[in-house]
Amino acid sequence: MAINLLPMATQSLLWQVIRNDAAKTDEERQELLNSGELGFGKIFTDHMVDICWSERGGWHRPRVQPYGPIALDPAAAVLHYAQEVFEGLKAYRHADGSIWTFRPEQNAARMQRSARRLALPELPTEYFLESIKQLIAVDGAWVPTAPETSLYLRPFMFAKEAFLGVRPAAKVNYYVIASPAGAYFTGGVAPVSIWLSTTYTRAGHGGMGSAKTGGNYAASLVAQQEAYENGCAQVLFLDAQEGKYLEELGGMNVVLVTRDKRLITPDSDSILEGITLDSVLRLARDRGYTVEQRPVTIDEWRQGVDSGDIIEAFACGTAAVITPISEIKSAEFGIWMPEIDASDRVALSLRDELTGIQYGRIEDRHGWLTRLDA
Ligand code: PLP
Ligand code: COI
Repeated sequence: MAINLLPMATQSLLWQVIRNDAAKTDEERQELLNSGELGFGKIFTDHMVDICWSERGGWHRPRVQPYGPIALDPAAAVLHYAQEVFEGLKAYRHADGSIWTFRPEQNAARMQRSARRLALPELPTEYFLESIKQLIAVDGAWVPTAPETSLYLRPFMFAKEAFLGVRPAAKVNYYVIASPAGAYFTGGVAPVSIWLSTTYTRAGHGGMGSAKTGGNYAASLVAQQEAYENGCAQVLFLDAQEGKYLEELGGMNVVLVTRDKRLITPDSDSILEGITLDSVLRLARDRGYTVEQRPVTIDEWRQGVDSGDIIEAFACGTAAVITPISEIKSAEFGIWMPEIDASDRVALSLRDELTGIQYGRIEDRHGWLTRLDA
């Protein structure tokens, strides 16, 4: 059966909004939003987006509907063959109350690339942007106001067709859910310890590493468990072929900073092309840093720290923003990053600049923000 995976010529979709009768009251919502640490991904808003796709009808029946369970046939292809992709971006509340998001067209484009790799239909960028605006139109009050909090948006798409043969599904649904979020790591911006996995890899050449798909995260969990057992917050993966080149963390990209103002980050076809990473590299270039996106070995990191050449390392991603790395631990060795005052950390000053733009405190000179509530 031929399956058309190209984006349909985009015509505007007619949205249906079904209000949640059991939506939280203003007081209930405020209580949830103000109940101390929001953490990450623990509470959800009152509504969600749902758009259907079928081979015959393309994208259709776009809806905002009450947040709630999704009915799936036990034979739904996603439950068996993991044909799924997702995205992650945030809505930020500015001081004047307006709501903005950061480079959403990049998330839309990445979701299209992920979808191509997973033989899923591509959601046109206009539909992606509209889906987020529609959700914010009903759940905008869930975008928190406390410093450094945001509403994390999670678009995702999966194979819903009930069919056990192994082939791309002819019925797919796209959803967006939203979750008020604070810091991803419990220690906030305090430097984190990272576990270097020498047993497990995440992805290899020609695999799905550069797609944002559940399988990559499933592959990371056992290593993540090892990280927790060793007192680490995240796991760092090396390349699958030689086991010596840096790839990325379970849910973030990794960057090294040198004394002579270089930022070094791995170049590999099996890691996720991070939008935070791309933005941070841009901001660093603006400051006169040289950016090196190239293969980088764990030995180079170790020797660079020993020689005093590498002075900082950090993790970056939508959920984690920018978080300094204090040490790398592995079964065989450790790398201890030099102790630096927070005020001297490039990672933290880049974080301040990035979040300054996202929260509207600093001029958006690259045109990265999109308003969601107007
Ligand atoms: N790498 C992985 C595996 C991720 O899950 C993420 C988070 O989305 C990133 C990198 C960083 O990507 P972004 O900055 O676009 O959030
Ligand atoms: C994100 O940052 O959006 C991610 O998907 C990473 C994950 C740790 C939640």
